[in-house]
Amino acid sequence: MKEQIEKIGQAGEAALATLATLPELEAWEIEYLGRKSELNTLLKGLRDLSPEDKKVVGPLGNSTKQKLIALFDAKKKELLEKSVDWQAEGIDITAPGRVTRVGHLNPLTRVEHEIEDIFTSMGFDIASGPEVETEHYNFDALNFPKDHPSRDMQDTFWLASTSHGGVKSDKKSTDRYLPRTHTSGVQVRYMETHKPPLRVIVPGRVFRNEATDATHEHTFYQFECLMVDVEGEVTVATFKHVAEEFFSKFFGEKVRIRLRPSFFPFTEPSFEFDISCILCDGAGCATCKQGGWIELGGAGMVNQHVLESAGYKRGVYQGFAWGFGVGRMAMMKYGINDNRLFLSGDLRFIRQF
Ligand code: FA5
Repeated sequence: MKEQIEKIGQAGEAALATLATLPELEAWEIEYLGRKSELNTLLKGLRDLSPEDKKVVGPLGNSTKQKLIALFDAKKKELLEKSVDWQAEGIDITAPGRVTRVGHLNPLTRVEHEIEDIFTSMGFDIASGPEVETEHYNFDALNFPKDHPSRDMQDTFWLASTSHGGVKSDKKSTDRYLPRTHTSGVQVRYMETHKPPLRVIVPGRVFRNEATDATHEHTFYQFECLMVDVEGEVTVATFKHVAEEFFSKFFGEKVRIRLRPSFFPFTEPSFEFDISCILCDGAGCATCKQGGWIELGGAGMVNQHVLESAGYKRGVYQGFAWGFGVGRMAMMKYGINDNRLFLSGDLRFIRQF
């Protein structure tokens, strides 16, 4: 048996050296390494040998098989390389590999996802509304007085056309359409189809006819947050708690909230809110202009007129609403000093995230 194995090894090696094509190699593999090959059949017979013979023949059988496998692999590599005319194909297999560029999320998208995750973990729904909005939802239903200057307080781009295919017109709509100036319009849209208790956030793109600078864009992203329940359940204290929870989770450290009196037609009372500066913890630095606080958005208790616009009975429900710019959050989180970079399309900027 020992001689037989040696003979097979030698024959296999000699036959392999003469092979010139891949099909020939395939046939060789079946003959010398296949399940029904002579070598395999011999190795199966090992169990009938005496223990002394097994000790000699077993290792020889295995080493012969391993040697044939190694020779087969080397031959296969050689034939595969020969089977393609690299030059004719214009392929330089010695050229160094090129690094594939992986796409990057815009920091605005990243921040939007983070904000959504935090609010979802706090039990909020996520809703959306149309970017081209009716005057009704953007202004009327939010208690902006008709022909009142406050309607221009958000530098509205009015659309020239009196109707727009993108927005479903309904009985309540006026004929005027506009790229929405804020996400607050979705408050009423959402309340029309949902009853309290409710908590919802609305991320979205908004548009304003503004001169742009480092903190102002004509197209930017806002987040609306709305929480409504029966009277007495959702108060300014609830708002402060939710806001502190949210900002502390977002920035990964304890953040304090400060409210300042303000005016929005759709909230009463209304306030602007600031958060303690993340960089100096309220001590005063260049980012917070030495004040220790950073202005982030508007908020207030939902005006009863707005609840009525949504079809709720006056005096039964109470809630808070707030809205803030996503860009400002991204600027603080990533140390970006100009909000015009976000939509500049400059890949050198995007690739940093
Ligand atoms: C509003 O838009 C209100 N709808 C917010 C609100 C919601 C108040 C619910 C009460 C209740 P304001 O115009 O202040 O408010 O904008 C809110 C935030 O959007 C600002 O604090 C700022 O972070 C961001 N923002 C406003 N204008 C711009 C702009 N031109 N470019 C970038 N971000 C802006």
